[in-house]
Amino acid sequence: MSFVDLLPELSLAEKASLLSGDGDWWTQAVPRLGLPSIELGDGPHGLRTETGVDMVWVPSTCFPTLSALAATWDRELVREVGAALGAEAAAMGVHLVLGPGVNIKRTPLCGRNFEYPSEDPWLTGDVAVAYVTGLQGAGVGACVKHFAANNQETDRTRISVEADERTLRELYLAAFERVVHEADPWALMCSYNRIGGTYASAHRWLLTTVLREEWGYDGVVVSDWDAVHDKLATVRAGLDLEMPGTQGRTDAQVVQAVQAGTLDESEVDRAARRVLHLVDRVRPGPGVVRASGYRPGDELTASQLAALGADAHHALARRAATSALTLVRNTGVLPLDPHGSQRVALIGGYARLPRIQGGGSAGVRPTWVDTPLEALRAALGDRLAFAEGYPVGESDYYQEQVPAALPSVGQLADEAVALAARSDVVVAVVGLPLAADSEAADRTDLALPADQVALLTRLAALDVPLVVVVSAGAAVTMDPWHDGAAAVLLTGLAGQGVGGAVADVLLGAADPGGRLTETYPLSLADTPGAIGFPGERGHIVYGEGVFVGYRWYDALDRAVRYPFGHGLSYTTFAYDDLRVDVLDAAAGRVRCTVTVTNTGSRRGSEVVQVYVGDPLSAVHRPVRELKGYAKVTLEAGGSERVVVDLAGRDFSYVDAACGRWRREGGQFVVSIGSSSRDLRASAVIELPDGGDATVPALVPDEEMPTDAVPWAVGTDGPARTGVAVP
Ligand code: BGC
Repeated sequence: MSFVDLLPELSLAEKASLLSGDGDWWTQAVPRLGLPSIELGDGPHGLRTETGVDMVWVPSTCFPTLSALAATWDRELVREVGAALGAEAAAMGVHLVLGPGVNIKRTPLCGRNFEYPSEDPWLTGDVAVAYVTGLQGAGVGACVKHFAANNQETDRTRISVEADERTLRELYLAAFERVVHEADPWALMCSYNRIGGTYASAHRWLLTTVLREEWGYDGVVVSDWDAVHDKLATVRAGLDLEMPGTQGRTDAQVVQAVQAGTLDESEVDRAARRVLHLVDRVRPGPGVVRASGYRPGDELTASQLAALGADAHHALARRAATSALTLVRNTGVLPLDPHGSQRVALIGGYARLPRIQGGGSAGVRPTWVDTPLEALRAALGDRLAFAEGYPVGESDYYQEQVPAALPSVGQLADEAVALAARSDVVVAVVGLPLAADSEAADRTDLALPADQVALLTRLAALDVPLVVVVSAGAAVTMDPWHDGAAAVLLTGLAGQGVGGAVADVLLGAADPGGRLTETYPLSLADTPGAIGFPGERGHIVYGEGVFVGYRWYDALDRAVRYPFGHGLSYTTFAYDDLRVDVLDAAAGRVRCTVTVTNTGSRRGSEVVQVYVGDPLSAVHRPVRELKGYAKVTLEAGGSERVVVDLAGRDFSYVDAACGRWRREGGQFVVSIGSSSRDLRASAVIELPDGGDATVPALVPDEEMPTDAVPWAVGTDGPARTGVAVP
């Protein structure tokens, strides 16, 4: 029997109770009929289950955050991490993991960028599909968040995003649409913000017209925590489960509204049925770790760690971190010789206490942490000397901080510079503090902390090669030290395996596998949305439209520090013989093939990226957009014929006149390369019109609340209708 079959037996009050949680993390049970509650738990890069005792978290594997995971450009690896998270959730008895986050990095300032894969919607969707497939394959649900347009933390619970429909669909909804179609997540979480004046939690166009009617989604829509402001409006709009629970307050509102005839009982049934369907999909139960006598507040025992798969998952976390590490600059100093006689100065508090994740609801208490200091010391022994260099603040992984009487900032820096001056090579590990990569706040600039910048500037001026390892959840600026650095390695927030990964890459035991999934700008002023951020009078206008990330820098032909897709290997690759074949012109099916050869002297990996441009369009389109990629690993001298397929949507844009994806007939440029600005070959193909130009509007005016129409900006008066959605 399925739980959905219980629906006719539930009273109105029982049905209403399914529409809100039981406390912070549970759905409500109906014991009379044997309906269990299920547990929701934060992800997305590790499991955050609260023990109920002083917010102490149960240990779990801290994998690279979604941003770092995306930098691997490795679908299979992301799927493996998703599966491992699923296995840990199942072992702990968590049935729905609150992730992945798939919001677009509109601005590098957003405090939660470490939780999101990319500035590019196609890549974001790709990562989400791999993650959700892995997680749900383990029998645990994914809750993809935050739907939609939650691209800043400032004022996140009420800011109204003003974006036209094309921008919403091409950038901010695209990854959700893809994951819904290709991975069928069991739940979606609505965002806190408003869109065109209406809260996402009560946005009928978003939650019903687009999500249900167009995309055919049949999973549960969960509110972000406390994102419900008007219970009845959210039920009518298509929200199913309000979280956290309200101790019956909003359940009673639902019952009264049905009894008063202001809410149709069928709306309650619809939401209750979806929640019952979710309970059917998961395997309710405590999980083996809890069943084995685990008590809130306990450390995990050896057998509980074994039940969690902690050893294997730590190894996976380290492998994923290695694959995420992105080498953006190397004048030849790397890799260091592990067996040579070089004296290596390791500098930086973050080498001892690494930045492995960001702050907020995504925080994980790791099972253990490999530090760069320990890993490099194990490999280099006496050849390594360490200096703190700058003070580190709060730990992001709950390691007790011994409040030592630290020397002053000046003394720390002086000691480090003195050590560096008597060494043969310097490795400086720097990064953003936890507060800069955290939920509920945005950064105000892109620089590293001033004491670190000052230290790097002094180190860069020495006559000793300087390797800078940056641990940050989002792009940082690199002036004035950049040009004085011999190498720059970005770790992102790479999780608990970061220490071994850094040592492996610095010493050449592993090739740096990562590529940038966001542009590194030269300055904050260059970035999209810089002028209007973070909005005013409750509104943030997405005036740049679809020109976000590399689409913005390319449209303006603006110099950047490092472009989207960039990342160096320790070897080199040649691209030859690009063929772009139109397999089915009407359907827009196109196959790209190119021969990639490892022209260097060691094994390494390359991410072959495919970009599409439509230079002669009726609308303004980005110069090029990522539409496919393949990661290949080749031995020295080895080569492979790489195949990347493109499909109809890859050539289309959203036609605002009909709210629909449309392929305009004509010529398209297909480019292949190693980054968005390192294109190695391109071809022009011709495709016919997609025949989808005359589709009538899917969003009639009357369906979109007047205050939900974009451009209702900066006024408290009535919105102008019919501008963005004719
Ligand atoms: C966050 C969500 C998170 C939820 C539960 C909210 O504040 O925005 O991402 O899943 O809390 O912790």
